[in-house]
Amino acid sequence: MHTHDIPVIAIDGPSASGKGTIAQLVANTLGFYYLDSGALYRLVALKTMQTNTNINDINTLANIAKDLDVIFKHDKIFLGDNEVTDAIRTEECGILASNLASYPQVREALTARQRAFCQTPGLVADGRDMGSVIFPNAALKIFLTASAEIRAQRRYKQLIGKGINANIADLLQDIQKRDARDSNRSTAPLQQGTDAKLLDTTALSITQAKDTVLAWYAETCTNK
Ligand code: CDP
Repeated sequence: MHTHDIPVIAIDGPSASGKGTIAQLVANTLGFYYLDSGALYRLVALKTMQTNTNINDINTLANIAKDLDVIFKHDKIFLGDNEVTDAIRTEECGILASNLASYPQVREALTARQRAFCQTPGLVADGRDMGSVIFPNAALKIFLTASAEIRAQRRYKQLIGKGINANIADLLQDIQKRDARDSNRSTAPLQQGTDAKLLDTTALSITQAKDTVLAWYAETCTNK
């Protein structure tokens, strides 16, 4: 099967909108692979911190992205020999990831790695530019969002659940800053593409959101 025949569901949206949770559930239901593209940007950020790399040294940052020694194993993430599943989830890592993600050289260095996740029987990919840049031929493109207040609450629960300290007011401010940075950058900005369906999960449960994505995907299959 050619790569362009493999079905891809691209789920893009702002920070803490629930993309990861929904994307993973949809992938499990369909038996598809799952790509958490944000994890790659977070891994570049973690490696940048670990190596004390100057965040203006774009060549070194691009090399870090290109040479990332990462393994996704079940729901665990390894960088070299170290498990970093939780280490990449801190707000510090997310903020640095968002900064580094504005460099086109870093984005380019991660492109092939992301496309390599597209394998039979299919892929669910979540991020900011899955439908616009990485998988422009995706069978279904979704822009998944929720109000900033709800997203701050969800992020709070997620961090506390992982034993990471958090404060809702700080998280809300951080989400608003990150929205602005991700939406206003010149390379691959976060925005709803004209070919993407809007899914606002502010008032939806996880199951309702997942079922909506599955129903939309089933429609694309019958319309083929
Ligand atoms: O968890 P959260 O939604 O805050 O972020 P994430 O999906 O883990 O991604 C971390 C950062 O990487 C985001 O703030 C984006 O700036 C960047 N990113 C990106 O630019 N493009 C992607 N496809 C995925 C993430």
